[in-house]
Amino acid sequence: MNRVVAPSILSADFGNLNRDTEMLNRSAAEWVHVDVMDGVFVPNISFGFPVLKAVKAVSTKTIDTHLMIVDPIRYVEQFVGAGSDYVTFHYEAAEDISATIEAIHNAGAKAGISIKPKTDVAVLEPWIESVDMVLIMSVEPGFGGQSFIPASLDKVRELRRMIEEHKTECIIEIDGGISATNAAQVYDAGVDVVVAGSAVFCAEDPEAEIVKILDSKL
Ligand code: DX5
Ligand code: ZN
Repeated sequence: MNRVVAPSILSADFGNLNRDTEMLNRSAAEWVHVDVMDGVFVPNISFGFPVLKAVKAVSTKTIDTHLMIVDPIRYVEQFVGAGSDYVTFHYEAAEDISATIEAIHNAGAKAGISIKPKTDVAVLEPWIESVDMVLIMSVEPGFGGQSFIPASLDKVRELRRMIEEHKTECIIEIDGGISATNAAQVYDAGVDVVVAGSAVFCAEDPEAEIVKILDSKL
């Protein structure tokens, strides 16, 4: 898979969401990352369906929804209905992982599963052939603008090995603390999709920053 960047609208200007979504439409980013936080699974509340629908109404990109909520199966259908192409939920937050994956697929979206920095990659092995994507959190979920945890690179390499052993198509996404200065390292470790929030939206020229991330070299 070619390198993909997924700017996180968590760091967008919500007073100018159409403008920022249109900027992403013009940009080289193929995906838009949508962070949903419930204030229970993570110590922060972001936004829900109305904001997702507003982005979807304008966006021409793949909508990549990251659910940081407890018991995610309750809301899968609504998140797919509101325009998600991918719905990713947390391993730590779901009671029945197989049922959650199945609910996402039945609703018509691709399914991702995510693990927090302290969760071992090996726990995902039973579902590696059922999910379309694994999201490795490279910061504690909850906030943009944190520093990348370097041990995440080993987790990506281990996950890549697991995917190859199972000869499955699952892609790898990484989220948290990534900018043009460390993007090459994560792509090199085996990541397909890089999420970038503050690096893109705090840049003077966000479109140029997206290109820098995609073109970054070791
Ligand atoms: C954190 C979110 C991230 C966040 C990344 O819980 O899942 O997607 O927006 O922001 P940066 O790129 O600023 O670390
Ligand atoms: Zn995210």
